[in-house]
Amino acid sequence: MDLFEKCDQYIVAREAEEGGYYPYFIALSGSEGAQASYRGRPLIMCGSNNYLGLTTHPKVKQASAEAIETYGTSCTGSRFLNGTLELHEDLERRLADWVGKETALVFSTGMQTNLGVISALVGRGDIVILDKEDHASIVDGARLGYGNTRRYRHNDMDDLERVLSGIPDSKGKLVVVDGLFSMGGDLADLPRITALCQEYGARLMVDDAHAMGVLGDGHGTAAHFGLTDEVDLIMSTFSKSFASIGGFIAGDDQIVHYIKHHARSLIFSASLPASNTAAVLAALDVIQEEPERVQRVNEVADRMRRGFQGLGFDTGSSVTPVIPIMIGDTMRTIGMWKGLFDAGVFVNPVLSPAVPEGQELLRTSYMATHTDEQLEQVLSAFEVVGRNLAVI
Ligand SMILES: Cc1ncc(COP(=O)(O)O)c(C=O)c1O
Repeated sequence: MDLFEKCDQYIVAREAEEGGYYPYFIALSGSEGAQASYRGRPLIMCGSNNYLGLTTHPKVKQASAEAIETYGTSCTGSRFLNGTLELHEDLERRLADWVGKETALVFSTGMQTNLGVISALVGRGDIVILDKEDHASIVDGARLGYGNTRRYRHNDMDDLERVLSGIPDSKGKLVVVDGLFSMGGDLADLPRITALCQEYGARLMVDDAHAMGVLGDGHGTAAHFGLTDEVDLIMSTFSKSFASIGGFIAGDDQIVHYIKHHARSLIFSASLPASNTAAVLAALDVIQEEPERVQRVNEVADRMRRGFQGLGFDTGSSVTPVIPIMIGDTMRTIGMWKGLFDAGVFVNPVLSPAVPEGQELLRTSYMATHTDEQLEQVLSAFEVVGRNLAVI
């Protein structure tokens, strides 16, 4: 059989493209944070992870540009060999301090952080335990390791206990959860999870990609719950509130030291460019200088949640700036996306298999820099399109 046969048979996305309802890989002609444009047409961006609106902050842009002047455009090698800059180490000290851990280690993306950390820690005979709604990079990190994976129902603590209690004491156990779930906008039940990990001798890693800069005065989910010491490893990415690209893991020095020498995605991939590293350092400065941004994004989220609920939309269990609009049907989800897109609002349709069939949704997300006027326009567009499609 020809290996490429499956490619020839893959026509579903082509059909959607030809039918004018393909919602992915949309090439924006401009992106100024809360406002983007498509073929010159303005769009209110409600589908990014730029929670604090820092991608266009003058200090962040300037720090990034200056770093290119100083260091050039690339490190052309891995952290392990020629690609470590003093700037990386400065950032690692700042991040460790920011999340309240001894040591941090910077990777080139969040995906690589999860791949490298989980596969380095979970060896043969060990077990990694995942929430069913954990991010794909966590699932792939677990697959890459030599250990076995067990999954529990989303945020279901009885089910987590069932899984943990079924694993012999002799096995090493790592529970990995999203702090803020990226599709549902709900939070991991860290008070219960930390207690269960202690009871069953499991280590805990929290992926704070969406909570860093947003929860716990910007310090993340563990800080939000006052449980920083109970969480063994805090992971996050720079591709969201920190307005850059890259990722990091933070924890006890000896654990991070081990990861540094065993994570293949760190050792065998080029390091984070200076411009991206400097952008994160500047973003941290801005978050400290302008704490009102963290407050604003949460206020915007509350207002939008109330607005959607008032119109009759189902916002699931969201308590954060990620607000899903539950639709529960593929065609209506795509219809809503298209209607909103044509009305100048950018959101993300989330379809099966990314969510179970019947739980299709629109993922919307908010920024500190959305204006009140933009938010009103978004709600009005949702009202019109939602009524047209009988979603409300
Ligand atoms: C929860 C979570 N973890 C990890 C990642 C990966 O981060 P990055 O974009 O830095 O690769 C993402 C990004 O989509 C995410 O949402």
